[in-house]
Amino acid sequence: MNDDESRTFSPFSLLFLSFFSPFSLRLLYLTRIVDCCWQDIVEIMMKSWNNGSPAATFNNAAQVVNHTFFWESMAPNAGGKPSGDLAAAIDRDFGSFDEFKAQFSAAGATQFGSGWAWLSVNNSTKKLEVSKTPNAENPWVYGSATPILTMDVWEHAYYVDQRNKRPDYIANFYNLINWDAVAARYAAAL
Ligand SMILES: [Fe+2]
Repeated sequence: MNDDESRTFSPFSLLFLSFFSPFSLRLLYLTRIVDCCWQDIVEIMMKSWNNGSPAATFNNAAQVVNHTFFWESMAPNAGGKPSGDLAAAIDRDFGSFDEFKAQFSAAGATQFGSGWAWLSVNNSTKKLEVSKTPNAENPWVYGSATPILTMDVWEHAYYVDQRNKRPDYIANFYNLINWDAVAARYAAAL
């Protein structure tokens, strides 16, 4: 049995698929909506957040926003380091790229249970900041910062490839970051 087959039929994969497929299909359906109606999805998310007393639709709307943003944070043959204004801002606000990585990794590693790590632009100071949020929550609904990068730390994001080793998944995430996309978001957030 080759590696692909062992992945397909392993109990872990079946567990993953049984959990993830309904959500994935729902996400696929909603992602079709995102193609035409991104602002509508964001508006549903913001309204259903209901000032911190979320309505039933909040989790689905927010997870479509979060995952779409996550997929677009990555690219094949990506990773490395940012350049230009974003690199300068990271040095200015964290001291170095390595310190940014340390803070972002810590945010992902210390998020208890399911959630997300974020790099955002503070809406008041325009400085970069790292944060973490539980479940489907995100900096948009909190209102004080505009995200430019996110990392999914729900267990389903890493369990198939890395089992329970979230730190391994986080370390590998830096090989996937689409810094061009993040830099464009940074410029738009200023
Ligand atoms: Fe996820």
